[in-house]
Amino acid sequence: MKTIIEPFKIKTVEPIRFTTKEERIKILKDAGYNPFLIHADDVIIDLLTDSGTSAMSSEQWSGIMRGDESYAGAKSFYKFESAVKKITNHKFIIPTHQGRAAEKILFSILGGKGKYFLSNTFFDTTRANIEFTGAEAIDILCEEGKNTQAKAPFKGNIDTKALENYIKKIGKENIPLIMLTITNNTGGGQPVSMQNIKEVRKICDKYNIPFFFDACRFAENAYFIKLREDGYKDKSVLEIVREMFSYVDGSTMSAKKDALVNIGGWLSLNDEELASKCRNLLIVTEGFPTYGGLAGRDLEAIAQGLEEVIDENYLRYRIRSIEYLGEKLLRAGVPIIEPTGGHAIYIDAKRFVPHIPPEQYPGQSIVCELYIEGGIRTVEIGSVMFGKYNKETGKLIPAMMELVRLAIPRRVYTQSHIDYIAEVVIEVFNNKNNLKGYKIIYEAPILRHFTAKFEPIE
Ligand code: F0G
Repeated sequence: MKTIIEPFKIKTVEPIRFTTKEERIKILKDAGYNPFLIHADDVIIDLLTDSGTSAMSSEQWSGIMRGDESYAGAKSFYKFESAVKKITNHKFIIPTHQGRAAEKILFSILGGKGKYFLSNTFFDTTRANIEFTGAEAIDILCEEGKNTQAKAPFKGNIDTKALENYIKKIGKENIPLIMLTITNNTGGGQPVSMQNIKEVRKICDKYNIPFFFDACRFAENAYFIKLREDGYKDKSVLEIVREMFSYVDGSTMSAKKDALVNIGGWLSLNDEELASKCRNLLIVTEGFPTYGGLAGRDLEAIAQGLEEVIDENYLRYRIRSIEYLGEKLLRAGVPIIEPTGGHAIYIDAKRFVPHIPPEQYPGQSIVCELYIEGGIRTVEIGSVMFGKYNKETGKLIPAMMELVRLAIPRRVYTQSHIDYIAEVVIEVFNNKNNLKGYKIIYEAPILRHFTAKFEPIE
């Protein structure tokens, strides 16, 4: 078979509301040129995130009906727990309402002033939860991961040499844990190799530092290992996933990604004392340890989603549909991160609009134009999201990369939606010389990209 088809049939549909370009120009202006502030009903194709936007299967919806809503010891919890254990093999599984709730609990306990957490790249909420405790979050991405055009297979890897140097410099007693984000969302949805995971395990053993995954996209990461790493071609995705998790002491997870649900998460651990502290905090912030901020029905849907996400027909279609969009864009000369990652296409805004400097947020300019041109909502991952100000001069310290992410929700859009997305991006690219820079006219002190307001620079 040549064409890789969507491995599902559509049973329920949700109509798309179409808008005109004139309407969209006004909508965007009213939203302060920040698509986070646009009503979803005014969006034609929503690529803001792949988080919580999955289409659930008929089996998951059946699970919703089976949900046991008992406050304590619900049947659905045990189903959830055994599904998560099947993947992680960790001893203690704590449900949370989403990924950042797991992060908040873990880092509140381990963080604090004078502590340092090291990673390939922390996602924005993870970094925020670390910094909120007064601790520091340090990204140590491998060199090829910083080059948007390097065609390396595992650009999400941590630089293990630099990692060891950091440990020596900071002192192992000041590093409560090392975390690998799989796949590396901020750096292009790029995978981490099994080899890299094993090397980090060795370093963590040497210095006696716990090792965790931010496991949001673990199945996509495992499929890349199967496709690209020697020795894994004939292993099942489940075997690969279990091997990956066998090297870590715990994980934080947003089930809104690779558990194919709209809400949920977990914290998995092997350390009993830490698990007990986490559970105590969970009761204060999320709920009793057998539901952790979720309904029984949500736990059922996660348990079923975890079975479906490691299905190889699903993963083949998933990874291929992103690659297909990437190929179309590359053929038209659109600069994107190569090779394409697991859940999104990342436009390299620095090369797309070289005439707009980082201080004028080139990524935001592309985000705005994609919305105006085709009603497509995307997100800037660059200096709007990660830029900081120099405390003395007040000048912007730009992010390492200026990217626009086109995140593809799981099982939601068909190939013709993908063709439409390609057409719109190419149209904007052909008109790139007319794109303008933006300035920020309002921003919050933390995670500013969610609520910032902008104005085009005329
Ligand atoms: N870690 C990673 C790598 C993520 O991508 C996210 C969320 C989180 C943690 C937090 O999980 O949203 O359930 O609290 N990423 C979403 C995104 C928001 O659009 O990439 P959460």
